[in-house]
Amino acid sequence: MSRAYGRWGAFAAAIALAAACKSSSGSSSSAPPPPQEVDFPPGFMWGSSTAGFQVEKGDSHTDWAHWVATPGKIKNGDSPDVGGPDALDHIDDDVHALASSGQNAYRFSIEWGRVYPTRAAFDADMPDVTALTAYDTLLQKLAAAHVRPLVTLVHFSLPDWLSDGTPATESNPQGWERPETQGLFVQWCTRAARRWGNLVDWWVTINEPLPYVLGGFVQGSFPPGVVLQVDRALSVAKAEARAHAACFDAIHAADTIDADGDGKAAMVSVAKHQRTFHPYDDTDPDDATAAKRVDYLWNQWFLNAIVRGDWDDDFDGAYTGPNDKQGDPTLKGRADYIGVNYYSDTLISTSHGLKVPAPIDAAVFQADMPTGRPKTDFGWDIYPEGMGTVLDETAAYGLPMVITENGIADAADANRARFLLEHLYQVGWAMQRGDQVLGYFHWALVDNFEWASGYCPHFGLFSYDPTTGARTPKGSVATYRSIISKGRITTDDVAAAPAYAPPHECP
Ligand code: FCB
Repeated sequence: MSRAYGRWGAFAAAIALAAACKSSSGSSSSAPPPPQEVDFPPGFMWGSSTAGFQVEKGDSHTDWAHWVATPGKIKNGDSPDVGGPDALDHIDDDVHALASSGQNAYRFSIEWGRVYPTRAAFDADMPDVTALTAYDTLLQKLAAAHVRPLVTLVHFSLPDWLSDGTPATESNPQGWERPETQGLFVQWCTRAARRWGNLVDWWVTINEPLPYVLGGFVQGSFPPGVVLQVDRALSVAKAEARAHAACFDAIHAADTIDADGDGKAAMVSVAKHQRTFHPYDDTDPDDATAAKRVDYLWNQWFLNAIVRGDWDDDFDGAYTGPNDKQGDPTLKGRADYIGVNYYSDTLISTSHGLKVPAPIDAAVFQADMPTGRPKTDFGWDIYPEGMGTVLDETAAYGLPMVITENGIADAADANRARFLLEHLYQVGWAMQRGDQVLGYFHWALVDNFEWASGYCPHFGLFSYDPTTGARTPKGSVATYRSIISKGRITTDDVAAAPAYAPPHECP
């Protein structure tokens, strides 16, 4: 089970992977003095995000549904089927929540395992009619409310017919490990783009490919629950990169309808979790080297592959290995924009924290970071400057960016307003420096099921009544609405926000 401080125990894994590197590269940003005011252009996408498994009920034909049903895997035994926001039965409530708060965009996932509950249904292309109708309805109602959809095709959960539900061992590969999964995923991309391309222009193929492998194959807190098998984790990361590239091509082939009239029928990317990494001990050269290695693996390896076609097969930070390749035409140019999920910073150490055993034999994670920064309810540092750094670094790929997730676990809603102002100020400032950012999606629209941590972390702009499903705006919604309507944030706005209150950690 995930530790008390939330999912980023997974960074043990990041460092584990880093230790497999022989060399690495990092980057830094230099910024002009803070401007008094930052502005957002007309047409900027202002939205919030969710994921199907986290907000829907009865998404039962997925690996996550089996994981939830396995005792001990989810904090307090929580389940999306009991007491969740039940989004597909509350489409009107969600669309109203979006529109009434001034948002013009919504990111959500269409659940592959809901649309095709069995392998036989998938092979025969016999989608579940109830599922299709629900997603049709959501998309039509969003269109009527002038809320632009950004659709994710895999957000962690996979159809259960891509795994066998038995304990994951070397001899029974699961999900993305199976060679056939990539081809099946590409078919899913084609069919989704064909069916919904008339209403959708913005697509995310895979959400957070690296947190997925860390949770599933190193930390063991996500299905298939494999622990500390770095080789398997790395091979799944490769499978996701290749699957993304093929899905990118499939969506472009199938979605030829420009739904929003901007001249582009499909804008396709991944939602890439980007973080800042700092050495735990600034004076320790080993910590500095380790931080750069993690930065390379976490922030750059995947994007180098799908944007530049630079394939670092052995993850060593150089293109000299027998299976390495630069400018690979089967991978290069497979992003129309970069979806950036930004949450926080991580300190990297080689001498404090968790020792990861052989064959890694080095890795360390500093869980409760002694930074003195304010913390969220999830124990994550609040570090708005990192948003600017991540945008500057990701801008180096030469593509526009959309912030596909950024948010705070804050059950009391005491800190969300300041968090929004500080992070969006950083976004506006990065745009003044020349970074091209097309939109911002706050995680999340509504409180939801936070994977292994269940219902304790409250990320929503809206809460919900578990009996009636009614959505209620939290106080911070007024702040988001005001930023959206003004299209501007000043340093006075930020200074006027209440100081960060201590977090309410999950019991
Ligand atoms: C991201 C996930 C999202 C949610 C937030 C808090 O890493 O993509 O589903 O869990 O964290």
